Amino acid sequence: MENFSGRKISTCVFISGYGSNLKSIIDSSRDYSFPITIKLVISNNKNAKGLACARKYNIPFKFYNYKNKIHFENKCLTELKKRRIKLLCMAGFMRILSKNFIKNFGYKILNIHPSLLPKFKGLNTHKRVLKQKEKYSGCTVHYVTPDVDTGEIISQKKILIDKNENEKSLQIKILKQEHKLYSKAIRSIFK
Ligand code: GAR
Repeated sequence: MENFSGRKISTCVFISGYGSNLKSIIDSSRDYSFPITIKLVISNNKNAKGLACARKYNIPFKFYNYKNKIHFENKCLTELKKRRIKLLCMAGFMRILSKNFIKNFGYKILNIHPSLLPKFKGLNTHKRVLKQKEKYSGCTVHYVTPDVDTGEIISQKKILIDKNENEKSLQIKILKQEHKLYSKAIRSIFK
């Protein structure tokens, strides 16, 4: 990524649900030294709680129906171009972007995933981690490429799984780390 020299990078965050990672990035971006500014939030779910967060912080947001993926992506690309967005952050966006979209946007797309990639790509991560009796889990921020959860890793945080850990407790524990990791990863790529 290009150097950050005082001018914040216009960024769009993609969400599908709760938006706690969105909130953590917004909080970080209020610091003058943080390299990005959130200019737009896009959701594929009109009931996403994260949209209320965008509204609260006066950040423009859009909901586009994902039923037709090409239509969804074209709508996004038009809006991103219009707003001169230079970076995308996937934050709990639970859909897969097409190769064309990723290429068209120039691969400047980040994602956060709740496992220690390359282990446990895909959905139901915590359930599978516990079933495999892993000793550790964690979260990963990585670049998005057409193959799901396989792009270059930017940053990871490892946590120890407790003996009596369950899916919910693991999710809460990791989400807490995600909130720190995403901003740390964003800072690191613009150093
Ligand atoms: C987060 O745990 C994120 O890592 C995960 O969804 C959650 C969204 O939480 N993303 C994925 O599983 C992507 N494959 P949030 O809406 O509160 O940020």
